[in-house]
This record gives sequence, C-alpha cells and structure tokens, in this order.
Amino acid sequence: MSPDFDLKQYLEKHRLIVEEALEAALPEKEGPEARVVEAMRYSLFAGGKRFRPILCLAAADAVGEEVEAAMPAACALEMIHTYSLIHDDLPAMDDDDLRRGKPTSHVVFGEAIAILAGDGLLTEAFVLLSGYHTLLPERALKVIGVIARAASYRGMVGGQVVDMISQNKPADLETVQQMHSRKTAALISAAAESGALAGRGTDEQVEALARYGRAIGLAFQIADDILDIEGDTKILGKTTGADVARGKVTYPAVAGLEEARQAARELVNDALAALESFDQRADPLRALAKYIITRRQ
Ligand code: IPE
Ligand code: IPE
Ligand code: MG
Ligand code: MG
Ligand code: MG
Repeated sequence: MSPDFDLKQYLEKHRLIVEEALEAALPEKEGPEARVVEAMRYSLFAGGKRFRPILCLAAADAVGEEVEAAMPAACALEMIHTYSLIHDDLPAMDDDDLRRGKPTSHVVFGEAIAILAGDGLLTEAFVLLSGYHTLLPERALKVIGVIARAASYRGMVGGQVVDMISQNKPADLETVQQMHSRKTAALISAAAESGALAGRGTDEQVEALARYGRAIGLAFQIADDILDIEGDTKILGKTTGADVARGKVTYPAVAGLEEARQAARELVNDALAALESFDQRADPLRALAKYIITRRQ
C-alpha cells in the first residue's frame, strides 16, 4: 500500500460526494408525502459515516475507471442501511432513543411514521436502482439482485431475526458468526460486490471483492459489538452498554473481548489477502479494511 495514502482525506471527499448524490436522490417534498419524506430525510441526513456507499465507490475504483457508474448502487445501499437502523431502533426491536447523535425516528415522528419512513427508504432504493441507465441492462440487473438478496431474509432481515430470537439465551460462536454475517456482513459485502459489478470488473474481481466484503463485514459487526462496550456515546452517536442491558448475543459476550479483537484482526487480514491480485487502485479498500477495527465512531 502506498505510504502516502490519506484515508481521512479520502473518506471526507467521498462522504461529500455521497451526501450530494443522496440529496439529489431524495429531495424535500410538499403535499401528502411531505411528512414521510421529512422522516426519511431526517434519518438519512442525520450524519452517518457513509461507509457502505464509500466502500461501493472504492470497489468500482479498484476495478475500473468509471466510479460514477456505482453512484446509484452506493445511494441505494445507504438508503437500505438507514431503513435498517430506523427499524433496528424501534421499541419492538432494540428500543434505542439515540442514533447518529440525534433522537431516533420513532421518538421524533412516532412509531407509525418511523416504520413507514423505513419502508419508504427501502422502497426508494429500488426506485433509484430501476433507473440504472449508466449500466447495460444485464449488469444493472445483477447489481439489483446482489443488493436485494443481501437485504432480504437470506441476509440482513434473516440476521436481524436471529438477533431478536437469540436475546437472553445462551449462544455459541458459530451462531454469532452466522448472525453477524447475515445482519451486517451481507449488506457490506453487497456494497463491495455491487461496486465491482458497476465498475465493470471481471467475474474473478467481483468474486474477490465479495469475499473481501464478507470478511470486513463480519469484522465491522465485531467492532460494533466492542464499541458498545468500550466506546464513547458522544463520538458513536448511539447509547453504549445497550447490548448487555438487552441480553444481546454479541461476539465479545460469547468469546470475550480479547478473542473478539483477535478475530476482527484476523478477518481484516483475510480481507487484505482477498485483494492480493489487485494493484494500487485497491489501496482505498485496503485502508478501509484496517479502519474498521481502529474506528471510534
Ligand atoms: C451501524 O452501522 C449498524 C451496524 C450494522 C453495525 P454504522 O456504524 O455504519 O452506522 P452509521 O451509518 O455510521 O450511522
Ligand atoms: C444492527 O446491529 C444491524 C442492522 C442490520 C441494523 P446493532 O443492533 O448492533 O446495531 P446498532 O449498534 O444498534 O447500530
Ligand atoms: Mg440490533
Ligand atoms: Mg441496535
Ligand atoms: Mg451494535
């Protein structure tokens, strides 16, 4: 990796590009839809890291020249991710009142609008993807399929179900790994894979980046579990200690903090190994992998 690659600068530059594209994709509305769009925008623009869209753009960059072609996928991923956070925070799920440093959607808008804002964001992602004119139809359909499957019961929804039904029950490492792979790694891997597809990567490159994404995705949720124990609410923008309070099955709860840290480090190494055949254009992906286990937000 080039010694002068500046991840902080890369993240900031791409975060601004993503903000602008999201703003264009979901402008304010008037009339009957104003309230739900207001709630959708409240959560979407509450200040997330934009990790998934930036990852998607970085993957496109690693295999091709046309990063712009990945923008609809990048925005769709952030909309789906934001919907998952709104629903994850609902009283019937994790019952959290702080997200991205602000009161959660249901606290501000009430449960009904929060549920519908989540539904609205999930659906809007596919409205955006249905207008994928910068890719040939066959490739656009592949991108849509990758993202849809990752968000579905096969991926995120299924993982969230395991999370809910495992609460306050003993669990083994295998269960946690499966749950984390689905609830979090599926969408993160889809970000890398869809970016590679949109950047017109070869089948081998797409598969390598999906493998990279599965590894960093699992590391991402392990880091999230660790931050819930050791993090700072002010920096994280969400209340720490929530997992223990709710009897959540987490990696450190099952394996211990030290083993969780070690597992995350090994996963980052697996992710870097998946990038072995890539040149310096994959340096942002290499830096993003390492960032996951050092981040405080
Ligand atoms: C939080 O995701 C939820 C998980 C899947 C762990 P992020 O840590 O990416 O949250 P934002 O988007 O920056 O708010
Ligand atoms: C969230 O896992 C996974 C999602 C699919 C949203 P968590 O419940 O640990 O996420 P946070 O800690 O509330 O962000
Ligand atoms: Mg949860
Ligand atoms: Mg939660
Ligand atoms: Mg968490």
